[in-house]
Amino acid sequence: MFYSGLTLKITQIPVKTASADYRVYVGRELFPLLARRVVMKSGRRVFVLTSPEIWALWGRRLLASFPRKAQPTVLFLAAGEPHKRMAEVERLAGELAAAGADRSSLLIAFGGGIVGDLGGFLAAIYMRGIEYVQAPTTLLAQVDSSVGGKTGVNLVAGKNLIGSFHHPSAVFADLAVLQTLPERELRAGLFESVKAGIIRDAALFRFMEKNAAKILARDADALGRVIAASIRMKAEVVGIDERESGLRMILNFGHTLGHAIEAATGYRRLLHGEAIAWGMLAALRIALQRGTVTEAQSARMEQTIAAYGPLPHFRASVEKLLDAAGRDKKNRAGMRRFVLPKGIGDAVVVEDVTDGELADAAGWVLERAR
Ligand SMILES: NC(=O)c1ccc[n+]([C@@H]2O[C@H](COP(=O)([O-])OP(=O)(O)OC[C@H]3O[C@@H](n4cnc5c(N)ncnc54)[C@H](O)[C@@H]3O)[C@@H](O)[C@H]2O)c1
Ligand SMILES: [Zn+2]
Repeated sequence: MFYSGLTLKITQIPVKTASADYRVYVGRELFPLLARRVVMKSGRRVFVLTSPEIWALWGRRLLASFPRKAQPTVLFLAAGEPHKRMAEVERLAGELAAAGADRSSLLIAFGGGIVGDLGGFLAAIYMRGIEYVQAPTTLLAQVDSSVGGKTGVNLVAGKNLIGSFHHPSAVFADLAVLQTLPERELRAGLFESVKAGIIRDAALFRFMEKNAAKILARDADALGRVIAASIRMKAEVVGIDERESGLRMILNFGHTLGHAIEAATGYRRLLHGEAIAWGMLAALRIALQRGTVTEAQSARMEQTIAAYGPLPHFRASVEKLLDAAGRDKKNRAGMRRFVLPKGIGDAVVVEDVTDGELADAAGWVLERAR
């Protein structure tokens, strides 16, 4: 759906699940739309959760979109995965209470996936739940984490082990804020879009296969198309299977070994999307051996992943990766669930991938990642 104004072209993508019904807006310069949306209910307090880096770049512009009498109160979360913790949720809840936030207040999560995940969780539990909107500022957060309602924080025992499903009432994926996103973060997010194409949208895959240069140059039309298609794919999957009891599992393509690589390298060497790219290459290997993809299809997918690289190299042992994959919370005891592409644009979830197959794929990736 397109609305054409003088300078604005905004795509709206509906998300309809068993428990929620909202829209994702994709376009340039969405702050005025966001401000209009959240101050509609007069008298309600609006809060922004962000990180100091993002606020320094975009805070002034965001505030300028709000009427002088309805300026939001700004709360900060320091950047980085170590801050995605319960202790920060408690501190921020205390700040909300001190500033007079009540059940009718609204929170804007303005940042990358960390701000979005923690902000969504804070909104889910503050006074048993308040309304929030997502204003994702990284590509990864726009195409993946801000849509679907998963919120949460990390424990020492593992990532995202505490959380809840709490959907935002709207998502504003603004292409303008991506201008300041570091190149490596952009590439990392694009791997999740390549994933979206491989598992469910052959046209998106072909578009990304042919237009890597334009997309990486942040051409607004090309990047906007990739973002909208990725969100549409996720919205559709989440609409069918909100709680990940079936179809939603396909979104984990590349994530079994990807998570293992992140864990084995201490979450420092690789960005999430980069680890997932290596994980997709490993999964392609298993798919090729099982015959769910052909040589030619596998080669095209490998080349397209490579086009959004370079992928940082790393070292680990097969044992360490298998060990880390075994602890992946997505596995049921004794069964290794795995997502395999079926050609390009479709995927299957299998329950019987053996340690041998996984070791072979892990070894193949480790050889290339050295
Ligand atoms: N809820 C979900 O469904 C879901 C899905 C995927 C990932 N996640 C979570 O998302 C998190 C990762 O998110 P991320 O990749 O966005 O990382 P992030 O939030 O750490 O952001 C990456 C970096 O980019 C900076 N940044 C953000 N926007 C910027 C901008 N516009 N200009 C300049 N710098 C900017 C941030 O300050 C940060 O340093 C992880 O915690 C992961 O678990 C959640
Ligand atoms: Zn991911």
